[in-house]
Amino acid sequence: MNGRFLTFEGIDGAGKSSHIDTLAAWLRERGHEVVVTREPGGTPLAERIRELFLHTGMDALTESLLVFAARRDHLRECIEPALRRGATVLCDRFTDATFAYQGGGRGFDRRILGQLETWVQEGRQPDLTLWFDASPAVAAQRRAAARQPDRLESQDVAFFERVRQAYAARCAAAPQRMVRIDAEQPRDAVWAQITAVMASPPWQ
Ligand code: TMP
Repeated sequence: MNGRFLTFEGIDGAGKSSHIDTLAAWLRERGHEVVVTREPGGTPLAERIRELFLHTGMDALTESLLVFAARRDHLRECIEPALRRGATVLCDRFTDATFAYQGGGRGFDRRILGQLETWVQEGRQPDLTLWFDASPAVAAQRRAAARQPDRLESQDVAFFERVRQAYAARCAAAPQRMVRIDAEQPRDAVWAQITAVMASPPWQ
């Protein structure tokens, strides 16, 4: 029995996190065991790495190594066991975020990211990725209303434009797996897009 691995992506402020909880409740009502988790994080070790990652200055290679180290522990201790029991795993960000933020935003070498991905994931990929797409301007307004910025959230508009472009390229390269959600629409309309995708997921 193998569960499904769903990931959620987008620039900071795109509004993905609240929809993850709604989708978890929706799936549980339909009888699924659901594990909600996040990256970087999801295990005690990876949550400690998250604290360093979000609040300490470092170069893009160090960021990449830390986030993949956290991912390795997260896969081994949380994601793979859950999938083996048949659970549906909803993960707030995964490797697309590394290609978007470190690759696109920071301009770090995508070939090295690809090598780390191969070592760390041993072939594991999401079954479905929902990419919450919003312009950097809209996302910045939402962030300003919601919270104090962390280290990555404090980057400028040009950084988030590069991150968004990198997500767009990932989506174009993997259209079977990655679906664009227009996250600038009102909340109900975004939810309608999500349920439409869930009605005909790529594994059907
Ligand atoms: P969150 O605030 O959505 O939980 O994400 C944490 C921050 O970490 C967010 O600004 C995106 C960033 N991040 C990366 O830069 N690379 C990664 O691989 C991941 C997973 C997150």
